[in-house]
Amino acid sequence: MKIFITRKIPDRGINLLKEAGYEVLVSPEDRPLTKIELIFSTQGAGAVLAQLTDTIDREVLEAWKASVKVIANYAVGFDNIDLAAAAEFGIAVTNTPGVLTETVAEHTFALILAIAHRIAEADRFARAGRYHGWEPELLLGTDVSHKKLGILGCGRIGSLVAEHGVKGFGMEAVYYDLRQNEALEKDCGAKFSSTIEGVLSEADFVSIHVPLLPSTHHLINAERLRLMKPTAYLVNTSRGPVIDETALAEALKDGVIKGAALDVYENEPEINPVLKTLDNVILTPHIASATLETRQKMGELAAKNIIEVLSGRPALNPVALKR
Ligand code: DGY
Repeated sequence: MKIFITRKIPDRGINLLKEAGYEVLVSPEDRPLTKIELIFSTQGAGAVLAQLTDTIDREVLEAWKASVKVIANYAVGFDNIDLAAAAEFGIAVTNTPGVLTETVAEHTFALILAIAHRIAEADRFARAGRYHGWEPELLLGTDVSHKKLGILGCGRIGSLVAEHGVKGFGMEAVYYDLRQNEALEKDCGAKFSSTIEGVLSEADFVSIHVPLLPSTHHLINAERLRLMKPTAYLVNTSRGPVIDETALAEALKDGVIKGAALDVYENEPEINPVLKTLDNVILTPHIASATLETRQKMGELAAKNIIEVLSGRPALNPVALKR
């Protein structure tokens, strides 16, 4: 049976599929495939190992339904797939939770530290030949230690970011989630807020870890940004459309909040042009899970999910429809 991989990934997952006896076809294109390409290049495949940049909508699924049994998304997020249509056509969908938690939490903390200590700005300053000697007030930043860390969405990644903040930097954590996370409260003394507003108004650093759903689209808008402290920073490693990017750019320009660090964007790969002009923003190109170790593990897990489903066993990481 043929397995189609929509973009080249590190080798381990590919090898696993080959060792299991499948014919593996990897897209030769070094870019996301268009809808037409997605439809035609997967013809006859029993499974697709897909990327978060593949828009797998009803039309694509309709074309795939005759042969594709499982779509293994090479990501923990799965907002690129029409889950209702996949369920209707009997196509299983899986993701890669767990294996990227530590890496994304590390990247999130790297962003928190970098924006607070103005690392990217300082690097630009030094490279531009503007460093002419130590100065008492050169590029003054903000301490992270002992500040209040706000977490929106306290699943695996959000919890680990909270733990790093509390255990590593003596921060206080306050979080909002639909469910209370008692383990985290016990382990880190994290405080539950029953509202998003509660987190926004209290925290010095707000880090977002919610999935993209209709209910989380523009969760952070102009009104909510105004609830944040003028000294606070916003960090997003979840999905871009969770923030109204135009409202954020305005807020950063007008000093409504102190700064932001973003790994994800509302209209990827485009980035709001205003954000690119601002020094109080750090921008990374959706790389929070991008270490070789983690990308290998993601490939392995995606491959294992395919093997399970094609062998008639339940998927290891089936994805459920959420609102
Ligand atoms: C994910 O897994 O959803 C990340 O955004 C990409 O690795």
